Amino acid sequence: DTRDPTSLRTPIVAVLGHVDHGKTSLLDKIRGSAVIEGEAGAITQHIGATAVPLDIISTIAGDLVDPDDFDLPGLLFIDTPGHHSFTTLRSRGGALADIAILVVDVNDGFQPQTLEALDILKRSETPFIVAANKIDTVPGWKEHEDTPINDTYESQTDRVRERLDESLYEIIGNLSDEGFSADLYWRVQNFQRNVGVVPVSAMTGEGVPDLLTVMMGLSQRYMKEEMEIDVAGPGVGTVLEVKEEKGFGTTIDTVLYDGTIRADDTLVVGGQNEPIVTEVRALLQPRPLAEIRTESRFETVDEVSAASGIKVAAPDLTDAMAGAPVRVVRDRDLEEVIAEVQAE
Ligand code: GTP
Ligand code: MG
Repeated sequence: DTRDPTSLRTPIVAVLGHVDHGKTSLLDKIRGSAVIEGEAGAITQHIGATAVPLDIISTIAGDLVDPDDFDLPGLLFIDTPGHHSFTTLRSRGGALADIAILVVDVNDGFQPQTLEALDILKRSETPFIVAANKIDTVPGWKEHEDTPINDTYESQTDRVRERLDESLYEIIGNLSDEGFSADLYWRVQNFQRNVGVVPVSAMTGEGVPDLLTVMMGLSQRYMKEEMEIDVAGPGVGTVLEVKEEKGFGTTIDTVLYDGTIRADDTLVVGGQNEPIVTEVRALLQPRPLAEIRTESRFETVDEVSAASGIKVAAPDLTDAMAGAPVRVVRDRDLEEVIAEVQAE
């Protein structure tokens, strides 16, 4: 292996928020913008995640992001469901993330799962920003597709601006009630101390350049050291979901945050009673959309490196637990790896 042994991995970004506030639409918008730019192939769909490389972020963000200012490779987004019954999936996504976007509908404001997501972020000490979404629904709003917030804001009438400001200050007030000092993102100096609020529309793309710029800047500034990993080293990840998959038996949807998993690796996975020691049978990624009609929704890959989402098929996974650690053994001492999984 001739690769540089240490490299900077992609930060993992969880997208959290109340049901229907626009989490999936926001990711769809980012994917859609890349398609329009003729770069559809550059964004890769992972199991439970979407990888957006730096050059695409820079294309969408326009003047706001100069790729030369960054050395992180991009962002890996994890979408989470907002429905109340998905608490565990939400909290796993939140705990796994290096950073997060809390999506709040500007009209609907704080709702039960907004508060729950905030609590998850608080407990896991995950830095986050708030996307105040659906600004296009403010009565009288004039759309300016895919523009930075400042440009579109300036061209609204006074009345529209006042209405938006009111909603934004209500969100800032709600954050303050929960113990977070927050402000509109362009007034925030220190994103570790203050939460930045970014007005966006997942529908029109307004503010999306700002959102990506802030996420990229936040990662680069505060997260860079944590992103330094030994890419070729034994993989380390977390089980997002345990799923039955036709033709593969029980599989684990895993988010890998360190090292590499190979198709011939031995794994130790956290189980209901004790750690499971197993051999990878297949590493599965979603097929590109165009090939969806083929016999399987998945294609097998030989290896995958952090950060990524991957479905692992292996024997004996029925007792695997969502939220549990996954560790590759490779040339390490098996007992030591088992002890690490037990300790987590
Ligand atoms: P769950 O996954 O169920 O928690 O919802 P979600 O947060 O992923 O919301 P989703 O993206 O599915 O959007 C919910 C609805 O709001 C859809 O009908 C979207 O079209 C709409 N929507 C999302 N973002 C915007 C926006 O910025 N403007 C407008 N007008 N509608 C939006
Ligand atoms: Mg959704």
